[in-house]
Amino acid sequence: MTAAASQVLDRVLVLEMVRVTEAAAIAASTLVGRGDEKAADAAAVEAMREALNSLYMDGTVVIGEGERDEAPMLFIGEKVGSAIGKGPKIDIALDPLEGTTICATAGPNSLAVLAIAEEGGLLNAPDVYMDKIAVGPGYPEGIIDLDKTPTENIMAVAAAKGVPARDLIVCVLDRPRHEKLIAELRQVGCGIMLIGDGDVAGVIATSDPETTIDVYMGSGGAPEGVLACAALRCVGGQFKGRLLFRNDDERGRAAKWGITDLDKQYDLSELAKGDCIFAATGVTDGSLLAGVKRKKGKMTTESVVMRASSGTVRWVKGEHRTD
Ligand code: FBP
Repeated sequence: MTAAASQVLDRVLVLEMVRVTEAAAIAASTLVGRGDEKAADAAAVEAMREALNSLYMDGTVVIGEGERDEAPMLFIGEKVGSAIGKGPKIDIALDPLEGTTICATAGPNSLAVLAIAEEGGLLNAPDVYMDKIAVGPGYPEGIIDLDKTPTENIMAVAAAKGVPARDLIVCVLDRPRHEKLIAELRQVGCGIMLIGDGDVAGVIATSDPETTIDVYMGSGGAPEGVLACAALRCVGGQFKGRLLFRNDDERGRAAKWGITDLDKQYDLSELAKGDCIFAATGVTDGSLLAGVKRKKGKMTTESVVMRASSGTVRWVKGEHRTD
């Protein structure tokens, strides 16, 4: 990393990033439970973009709201920051509102999320599905493997933890496409926590001893996979991901971003490498963070910001005047 980029990551961006996720979360929170995913997402996107543009950096969105022709703001390739062309070059992965449906229905675990790394540090994942498996810290390296069956992975994790498989809880997105996976996990005997949405929080939960989740399994968005990896790089844990393509259009998108080996099983450190920083603010209450709360004349927010190189995790409680 260049000295300039390192200094910016160190001194400026770590805490400034919280302002960015706070701004997006506060904007989205005005639309919690209103049944309008699009409006909530648009509010978060606009607020996050404005906050990002106040940061001293030459930022490039590598994971954003979609490709230029489908997203008016925070599209992939968009330049953000107040020092374009002169500041340190930073790659940015963002999801201003992770869990749009959750937010619209006032469910748990909706977040505003941001990860940054030096140029080239984050996989430019196309907006396709990714097969994912994750565990928290403390397991032998290589314990999880997408080339193994769910049963083999669960048995390996249970043996390493020193418990029977029935004592493990696996988090899985509740989707028809996971019917076979869920049936196999039921056969193995482990517990399953089905979540409606929000697999960034689901993956991160494996690394949090406060939750009962041991393993995350199943397919979800590839961009969300990269964002979750940036967090796991900071707090420890293992993650494997493989892009899933449903048609030639999706395969073409991968080629556009320079991905040639379409069957590759990616490791955590290939999805988010080098020094990276992850920040999130809760929109609704969840396993990772409390959501935005409104009281007379003020609002409170809860955020976390973490950095891979130092392993520092900062929990930030914000109080904001409503005027
Ligand atoms: P959005 O914020 O884009 O709605 O994503 C929510 C989410 O649940 C992600 O956490 C997850 O990776 C993805 O959707 C799963 O996609 P699908 O809903 O198509 O199964």
